[in-house]
Amino acid sequence: MALYAIGDLHLHFQAELKAKAQIKDRVWKNHEQKFRKICAELIQPDDTLVLAGDHSWGRNLAECELDMQYISDLPGRKILLRGNHDMFWDAKKTEVLNEHFRGKLFFLQDNYCTYSDYALVGTKGHCFEGPFYLNRRGQIIGWDVKNEARSKKLVDREIDRLRASLEAARADGFRKYILFLHYPPTSILEDSSAFTRMAEEYGAEQVIYAHSHGESRFYDSIHGERNGIRYRLVSGDFLGWHPVRIL
Ligand SMILES: [Fe+2]
Ligand SMILES: [Fe+2]
Repeated sequence: MALYAIGDLHLHFQAELKAKAQIKDRVWKNHEQKFRKICAELIQPDDTLVLAGDHSWGRNLAECELDMQYISDLPGRKILLRGNHDMFWDAKKTEVLNEHFRGKLFFLQDNYCTYSDYALVGTKGHCFEGPFYLNRRGQIIGWDVKNEARSKKLVDREIDRLRASLEAARADGFRKYILFLHYPPTSILEDSSAFTRMAEEYGAEQVIYAHSHGESRFYDSIHGERNGIRYRLVSGDFLGWHPVRIL
């Protein structure tokens, strides 16, 4: 039994593909076939695979049908996190999705699921992504303060969600936690954040995140050990479509 994670499949079996990087970059060429083959060889039926958001370009559930089928057909138990591109997932109706895909997929938000004696807890998260203003040397000299204020509200909402999920797991007797976020835990301006503080407060062993694409973004947030917690970026293009083993 093993726990794996990867994020950002950005499937488009039905929806029109508009993302330039995904059309041009070699790493994205036939990535659905590559990933399916890697999973078939790696993942056993009793393993768990967490998909850390940005599953589909579809704008609604009807446009994601084939993408969800593709994910359902992967081996093992599949747990999905909400990414910023997952338009099919109404944040207030996670339970409806869990009902619809019962026995096939589990949607992780405002709830938790178990792996051995661990509680797997997750939410989309948020981090401020600018716009930033740069000087001629490329150093940050300012940023959009309105966007930053809006970001703070989104962080607060996501932190409330995460705390409620952690408290539900704790009330059920769980003391070991793995946290999953779609967004990186810190922005490029931060060394710590409400998310890293929450991970420390609850003694989470690992924080798994995705969303950062392309070499210029891979190291925007924390990698490796920090205050006893292991941080890992699992966006698919960063991992070359090889799910990373978490436990
Ligand atoms: Fe993404
Ligand atoms: Fe994303």
